[in-house]
Amino acid sequence: MPQADIGLIGLAVMGQNLVLNMNDHGFTVAVFNRTVSKVDDFLTGGAKGTNIIGAHSIEEFVAALKHPRRVMLLVKAGQPVDAFIEKVIPHLEAGDIIIDGGNSNYNDTIRRCEYVESRGLLYIGTGVSGGEEGARHGPSIMPGGSPDAWQHVKDIFQAVAAKADGAPCCDWVGENGAGHYVKMTHNGIEYGDMQLICEAYSLMKAVGMTPAEMSEAFAEWNTGELDSYLIEITRDILAARDPETGQAMVDVILDTAGQKGTGKWTGISALEMGMPLTLIGEAVFARCLSALKDERVAASEKLRGPKRTFKGDRAKFVEDIRQALYASKIISYAQGFMLLRAAAAEYGWNLNYGGIALMWRGGCIIRSQFLGRIKDAYSKKTQPTNLLLVPYFRSAVRKAQSAWRRVVVQAVRLGVPVPAFSSALAFYDGYRSERLPANLLQAQRDYFGAHTYERTDKPRGEFFHTDWTGTGGDTTASTYTA
Ligand code: 6PG
Repeated sequence: MPQADIGLIGLAVMGQNLVLNMNDHGFTVAVFNRTVSKVDDFLTGGAKGTNIIGAHSIEEFVAALKHPRRVMLLVKAGQPVDAFIEKVIPHLEAGDIIIDGGNSNYNDTIRRCEYVESRGLLYIGTGVSGGEEGARHGPSIMPGGSPDAWQHVKDIFQAVAAKADGAPCCDWVGENGAGHYVKMTHNGIEYGDMQLICEAYSLMKAVGMTPAEMSEAFAEWNTGELDSYLIEITRDILAARDPETGQAMVDVILDTAGQKGTGKWTGISALEMGMPLTLIGEAVFARCLSALKDERVAASEKLRGPKRTFKGDRAKFVEDIRQALYASKIISYAQGFMLLRAAAAEYGWNLNYGGIALMWRGGCIIRSQFLGRIKDAYSKKTQPTNLLLVPYFRSAVRKAQSAWRRVVVQAVRLGVPVPAFSSALAFYDGYRSERLPANLLQAQRDYFGAHTYERTDKPRGEFFHTDWTGTGGDTTASTYTA
């Protein structure tokens, strides 16, 4: 008699913790792992004394599952997901559900969803955020895929998910790749938040603050509108000391950042959809630049910058940085939601933006008070076209803007790179511009390629061409927009 409510394949750190979390909530979970010895290690280790059922083969694993069978994969994104789908399909029946809980690319999820459905089964691609701690005690879960599957996993997912103001940080996102798309965007925003914090740190360093002093500043910031998980861990990181050398831990860590790809995918998707996700783009490129360590070290001996030191009031400047960070963060989230809207239109997803903000409000890496504001903004009857136009955010940016500009000016004067702060400001100035210099750009395109232009004094949609040199013909290039 099958007993397990759900089965999980992949007993790495996220898998083990999620299984224990499900067990704590009264669900019976069957587990399997490619290296089978890991199953026994888990049963005699972390899972000792629980109701978790260990399986030593796919057959045994599937036989332990109640109908419809729910098979969750928490394996490495990419080929291993396809491989396990192939392995389990022959053992499943119509109506059974395969769930991919890894950081899969949404294009893969769209493809897999179609494939699995074509085999009479249901598919879910779900984002799971919050790292090890989140998986164990309440992650943010962002499921999408076959709509009929939701009713069969809802109780389990919402029970184990984090709660924000009593509501589960998990809800149905949309069809096929929607869940993984939203998780990807979450990660892109995570890249942006992290880069903004790093720029704040870099400026604090440039004005002579010690890591311990910075930690105090972050501790204070965490009590106000910036209250968030990433500010909180930064506070703790800056206070930590290296047991080997006694130095601040942050000072002994090499300044070169890794990335697994979700930020890059966010940037690629933004480019494909023509959405100006400038801050996340800069955050990805900042990691790329950091990875060129040897080249930077060599260049640092040859390329000179300004020889200025900071002369102002440090406490005031730190407050300016806080405001610059807040304003830039607003821009980043406004851009993130612009991308989600574009994706919803492109892929036909009916995304609930307030629901997404709630899912991100707790459990995940970008969790913050701030997301409560975004949830409120999208819970109103009339949906804002852009977060920047919502009164709360409009006024927050207005209040922070002088400080934000001072910070960017100071960074430029000191030669400290602040790509996220400054690109956010450039976006703000661009977005609020009735007129941009693209008139000249369009003239250039028309000059060298007869690409035509629209006129300010004629209705939109009418295209004109000028024979700029007097030697061109009147044939124009076809008009299309990439
Ligand atoms: C989360 C994290 C998680 C992971 C990222 C890190 O939401 O729990 O985003 O998914 O930490 O994969 O991404 P990078 O390795 O690209 O920084």
